[in-house]
Amino acid sequence: MSKNSIKEKNIIGFTINGQAVEAEEGWTVLETARYNGFHIPTLCYHEAIEPSGACRLCVVEVREGDWSKVVISCMYPVKEGIEILTDSPRVHNVRRWVLEMLLAECPASKEIQALAAEYGVSSSRFASVDKENQCMLCGLCVRVCNEIVGVNAISFASRGTSKEIATPYKVPSTACVACGSCVTVCPTGAMQARLDQVRGDISQRTGHGHAH
Ligand code: SF4
Ligand code: FES
Repeated sequence: MSKNSIKEKNIIGFTINGQAVEAEEGWTVLETARYNGFHIPTLCYHEAIEPSGACRLCVVEVREGDWSKVVISCMYPVKEGIEILTDSPRVHNVRRWVLEMLLAECPASKEIQALAAEYGVSSSRFASVDKENQCMLCGLCVRVCNEIVGVNAISFASRGTSKEIATPYKVPSTACVACGSCVTVCPTGAMQARLDQVRGDISQRTGHGHAH
């Protein structure tokens, strides 16, 4: 949906950090916040792909009448009269907890380390399964490959703690067109390390998008 202009109908008014804002019905809190210049940190969000709510870093506090709750802003639809707080103490507490979880899951990701440091998180209470892991299994790389590029070079493989992003049979994919979109959308740096495994030896390609 274009955010270049707000059409006259179905306009919703509410506040973000005390500032009155307007949005079209159907926009999410994250979309509206960005449109109005408010920063909300995200990892698994990409505007070309439907949000999945995988990382939970984009949490904000919503107040409505007597109650308040913490919601995932990339999926939460705007509503008339609500108050959104993007940086309240409650929001920061939840974000720090999310970042501790992510640090434990992806201890080798410099991107996550940097985000965690912004929130004063340098270590995690949670145990790491793999000290070398950078992938948080958000699935953005798989979805951009399938839904945007239109090839199916990579997918989720295995289950449970062995779940990972891989090519079929973990051999270089003949479907891969080496476009690099998966690397571009990956928020943690994990896909960069896997690209050679996905596309194979680029010097061996025929120019028809096939690896040998
Ligand atoms: S490689 Fe990157 S984009 Fe793909 S699932 Fe892992 S973190 Fe997400
Ligand atoms: S950016 Fe909203 S859940 Fe990841």
